[in-house]
Formats: sequence, C-alpha cells, structure tokens
Amino acid sequence: MQSKIENIKNKIKDFKAESIKDIEDLRILLLGKKGEITRLFSEFRDVPNDQKKELGQHINNLKNAALERIQQLKDSLEGSKIEKSDIDVTLPPFPLNFGSRHPISLVLEELYNIFGSLGFKIVEGPEIEDDWHVFSSLNFPKDHPARDMQDTFFIESNPDIVLRTHTSSVQVRTMEQQKPPIRVICPGRVFRNEAISARAHCIFHQIEGLYIDKNVSFADLKQTLLYFARELFGSDVKIRLRPSFFPFTEPSAEMDISCNLCGGKGCGVCKHTGWLEILGCGMVDPNVLDFNNIDSKIYTGFAFGMGIERIAMLKYQVKDLRLYFENDTRFLNQFKSVL
Ligand code: DAH
Repeated sequence: MQSKIENIKNKIKDFKAESIKDIEDLRILLLGKKGEITRLFSEFRDVPNDQKKELGQHINNLKNAALERIQQLKDSLEGSKIEKSDIDVTLPPFPLNFGSRHPISLVLEELYNIFGSLGFKIVEGPEIEDDWHVFSSLNFPKDHPARDMQDTFFIESNPDIVLRTHTSSVQVRTMEQQKPPIRVICPGRVFRNEAISARAHCIFHQIEGLYIDKNVSFADLKQTLLYFARELFGSDVKIRLRPSFFPFTEPSAEMDISCNLCGGKGCGVCKHTGWLEILGCGMVDPNVLDFNNIDSKIYTGFAFGMGIERIAMLKYQVKDLRLYFENDTRFLNQFKSVL
C-alpha cells in the first residue's frame, strides 16, 4: 500500500494539463468512484489495526495533495487563457463613468466670462477674516445692529476673527493693494450661522463686483447689471432696482429680474409677483473709500454682490439648496450635458 501511495504521489506531481478536460480526467482517475485514491480508502478497511493510524494519515494527505494539485492546474490554465487573449485586465471597466461640472462651477464660469468681457479681473481673499475686513472697514460701526443682518461665526477664543459672512471683505483687500482704476470680481465661499434647510445653508458662494474710477455713476452700475442679466438669463429679461440699505453703499439697491419661468406674468416661483430678487448693489459709500486711503473727492465707485446658489437655482430650477452640497450623483449627472 505504501508503494501505491508513492506511485500516485508521483503521478500527481508530474501531471500536465492542456485543457479543463485533462484536469477533469485526472480528477476521475484519482478521486472518481473507481479512482485510485478512492480504491485506497476501500482497501484501508483490511489494513491491520496497528498500521491504521499511520496509513490513514498518509491516504488523507494524498487526497488533499490531489485536490490541491487539481485546483493549481485549474488556476494556471485560467491565468494563461487571459494572458493569451487580447484583454488588458488593467483597464478600467466599461462603461466609463465620466464626471460632470458642478452647477455652482458652471454658473461661476459663466459669470467670469460675462464680467471678464467687461474688463473685470478675478481676485480672491481669505475665508477666515478679521473684523476689520468683514465689518469695520465696510462702515459697520461697532455694536451697530447692521452687524446682525448676517449671523456670524466667531472664533470663541478671539472674537476679532470670523468666518467671512460675505465676499465684500475682498473689496477691502483689493483697495488695500491696488490704486484706482479698480475693476474686480471676487468669488468665494461665505459662512453664516443659519439652520440648514431647503432655502438656507451655513456655507454658500457669493461673487462680489467692485468698480472704482473717476466719474463712475449709478447709470454705469445699472448698465453693467442690465448687460449681466441679459447675458445670463437671455435678452428678454428685464431688471428693476428697489431702494435698500447696506452700510457700505450709499445709495443702496436690490436688483430683481423678471421671472424667467413665467416671463413676468406671475407664477409659483416668483410668488405671483413676476419678479425675482437676485442681488444687492449700490455706490460705494465715501467712508469706505476713505477708510481704504482712496480719496472720495476724486473717485467714486459701484459694488454689487450676489449668491451663486440662488442664481443657479433660478437658472436650473433647483428647488432645494442642500442638493448642491450632498454630492448625490443622481443630481450631478443632470448637468452632464451643460458645457
Ligand atoms: N454683502 C452683501 C450680502 O452679503 C451683498 C452686497 C450688497 C454686496 C450690496 C455689495 C453691495 O457689494 O454693494 O448680503
């Protein structure tokens, strides 16, 4: 019996397989109903008791070796099949899932083009700011209730440091670094301590515009905003300016556009007014110019600021602000066709 075991062992070692059928033949030869190893198990019954323990172990080991070898042969056959074929297994799977631009990026890109064609340059500033750049230099007096217009995130250990609540702070940083004429747009993230809902979020994006030169007038502001609205929402769009208040502009206004859904007739989106509010604007308050060492007797300027999420909501009819931040591909995929 011992020599039979040795024999089969060698057979297993030397066996070569060209196909799955060869491997299956080997399996039947060794482990099939009448297979050589199966037969050893039946002969085992007649082995004298004192040899049973040792021989039993040998036969079991043999069976395991056979099973292992069969698996080994199968694996190497599979491997060589792939190697021989033209498939490159390192390539990513098909269909390829391409990403798309985020709607906020799409709107920003459009705004860069529109204002870029009017000569506005893009500048950026820090998101973590000090009180001076966010409030004081923009004519918000200390303890003035106007500071409550925006729910500010303060740093507990140092109330002078805040997360900027608007991109108007970048106006100030620009005035510190450049002399007029200044013509810039300032995009970026802003932060407000608001409960998150379909209409409000604690993080959103704004873009600020600033133009300072000699003889800049309110008519220039109106013309610039009309051009912007027509480029973004189509040539039929109308604008209207309503008097408003911002500490850093005087006079101040809020701009509405005629509702792009109902064309101004009145619908659910414009709450049946025919108008949609989209931005704040005004003539730069002379105090703000003087705070920043620009002589308000020589120079005048206009400024405007708007929320990008709001523009994107109107443009793409998105009803819930939270969708912009959730990275849900079912939402993002819908912008694939927009260039
Ligand atoms: N900073 C204002 C806000 O966050 C928006 C704004 C209004 C910006 C009027 C301006 C402006 O530059 O002139 O609500």
